[in-house]
Amino acid sequence: MRFTKRHLLDIESLSANEIGTLLNLADSFLEISRRPIKKVPTLRGRTVINLFMEPSTRTRSSFEIAEKRLSADSLNFSASASATTKGETLLDTVRNLQAMAPQIIVIRHACAGSPHFIARHVDSAVINAGDGSHAHPTQALLDCATIRAHKGELAGLKVAIVGDIAHSRVARSNIWALTKLRADVHLAGPRTMMPLGVERLGVTVHHRLESAIEGADVVMMLRIQKERMGGECLFPSLREYSQTFGLTRERLKLTDERAIVMHPGPMNRGVEIAPDVADGPRSVILEQVTYGVAVRMAVLYLLAGSPPVE
Ligand code: CP
Repeated sequence: MRFTKRHLLDIESLSANEIGTLLNLADSFLEISRRPIKKVPTLRGRTVINLFMEPSTRTRSSFEIAEKRLSADSLNFSASASATTKGETLLDTVRNLQAMAPQIIVIRHACAGSPHFIARHVDSAVINAGDGSHAHPTQALLDCATIRAHKGELAGLKVAIVGDIAHSRVARSNIWALTKLRADVHLAGPRTMMPLGVERLGVTVHHRLESAIEGADVVMMLRIQKERMGGECLFPSLREYSQTFGLTRERLKLTDERAIVMHPGPMNRGVEIAPDVADGPRSVILEQVTYGVAVRMAVLYLLAGSPPVE
């Protein structure tokens, strides 16, 4: 099928078929990353601006690598190096960047809705690389691609997402993607970190980790997002949180024996995940990062106008 979206702002607005198209394409781009010469001329002559107004290790570097592997010309831009520190608005910044005629603007911003706002004001395609607690669509796509690589189809799989659901754009985008692909999604976390009414999205809510991960095919652990809590304390102590919601080797025995363990990063070892689980045989955490490049190559390719793959 053809991919007709102009931007990638969230998963909510994609159909299951569109998600499938992106995942299939990511699988074919994964092959390029395994070649000795990891470069194709597909996006030669096209310009991508990476505008990261919040810190990032994985997303930013994998977009940059994806752009290089597709031969796009890219410009990397961070908040501290931009004129927003001198009082320029985000919209003025983006309008000035637009005047340099990029095909694609990739944006990460602390404010939910920023990429949607920018998309209404520019001609370029806009890719949301994470906006506040709202959405992180390429993360959800790379997570689905990783699950598919291990489990085949997602339909019917029990996927447990554990941790600070309320502040997690990763959780929100994964809930949309996984339910569209007909996985059975279970959320677990303290009541203070669980969005009210989230069951309406077709998920099951638990307040104990054990019941959520029992028999699970996939366990996705999340970091506590202290930076989005506005100074509020939503749990008694890290030690208590870890004892209640941390994934240990002992607790992992509750899952299906072939279950995989995921984490979008950055991880807080010894808090939400024990080091021996993070580094253990069930962990696919670094494979998620590898898929991050392939998924972002697929997204860039489709939004840049789908020239033929060479
Ligand atoms: N998963 C993720 O978004 O990580 P970064 O913040 O390092 O990009």
